[in-house]
Amino acid sequence: MKAKRRDSRLSLPLTKSLLFMFRLLVPHHIQNIDPYVTGKPLEEVEREYGIADSVKLASNENPLGPSPKAMAAIEVAVSRLNRYPDGAAHELTRRLSLHLDIPVASLIFGNGSDELIGLLSMALLQPGDEAIIPQPTFLMYEIAVRATGATPVFLPLRDMAIDLDAILGRVTPETRMVFICNPNNPTGTIVEAHSFRSFLEALPPSVAVVVDEAYAEFVRDAAYARGMAFLPEHRNLAVLRTFSKAYGLAGLRIGYGVMAPELAELLHRIRPPFNASSLAQAGALGALSDQEFLQKTVKLVHDGMDELYAALGDRGVRYIPSQANFFLIDVGQSADVVFEKMLRLGVIVRSMTSYGYPEFIRINAGLPEENQRFLKALDTIRTE
Ligand SMILES: Cc1ncc(COP(=O)(O)O)c(C=O)c1O
Repeated sequence: MKAKRRDSRLSLPLTKSLLFMFRLLVPHHIQNIDPYVTGKPLEEVEREYGIADSVKLASNENPLGPSPKAMAAIEVAVSRLNRYPDGAAHELTRRLSLHLDIPVASLIFGNGSDELIGLLSMALLQPGDEAIIPQPTFLMYEIAVRATGATPVFLPLRDMAIDLDAILGRVTPETRMVFICNPNNPTGTIVEAHSFRSFLEALPPSVAVVVDEAYAEFVRDAAYARGMAFLPEHRNLAVLRTFSKAYGLAGLRIGYGVMAPELAELLHRIRPPFNASSLAQAGALGALSDQEFLQKTVKLVHDGMDELYAALGDRGVRYIPSQANFFLIDVGQSADVVFEKMLRLGVIVRSMTSYGYPEFIRINAGLPEENQRFLKALDTIRTE
């Protein structure tokens, strides 16, 4: 009993599986984590619903596929899979630092930007600390914070956008971290440079600001706060980017963080030594060299979003304009029901019920024919 109290750990109820696990003592903060629910793979949905040729607009992926140059680079790297990867990702670090015009020492790669969210939390948070998370936003921040034993402090969005003033008003001596998803997933709204500047100036420098820019490449609004522009003056800032979205490499798992070298060094100490696989490094290098593909993707997404906005406007369906490659649609009825009906029509979307918007769905822009499939399915459901 004594040991339990000292560790503030309690044994879980004696379920069969835990008996099997020799009654491991699991910290409360781990027991309390709800697992992240990913979008179902296309193949699984098709099998489950007995449908074929479905379209997936649920995970904000690149509808064009991976860049051909990334695929070619991966093919070459396959023949060296018997070797461990370059743990320091030298070539990728060099090329990306040139591309972004930032110091090499400011960069760190992760097994997706997901891993960097976890590493930042692990490095900077401990039980008793608080991390501010606007709500709703990307679900991994809460999981990463809870996994450290720190306390997530949730703040509602205002008009579907992150409320920087409310965040400042909620900072306490315990606050160690703030998450800013920009553009915000799932609302697609942005934080603007002028308000972000004032926010950083008002925030105590002991509070780390994690800016997640997974969708930065799609932003059209010139007022957008690009986190990297603020790095020289604000060493408490970490900017996260990914190759999963605009670069089309979600399955490969590679993302990166840009931050003060001292902070990057801290994360290098605790990351697994080979967290960016050799195929991921090769693919990212190939993708980076294919800016033409990136431009093609961005144009396709912008055209698709505009086309979808216009079509929804014609139908009198409300939507939330977005700066990312996805947006929210007010379906005016249960989003879970619409989600199910769409699945049966072969269109996979995301219900926003678990994000606190029970009558909204989220879709990403797809290929023109995929967008048309979605509109057709929506029309069918609305006339039922
Ligand atoms: C805001 C945001 N950040 C991070 C990620 C994860 O990106 P990665 O594939 O690099 O782990 C996602 C994926 O959906 C996201 O929406």
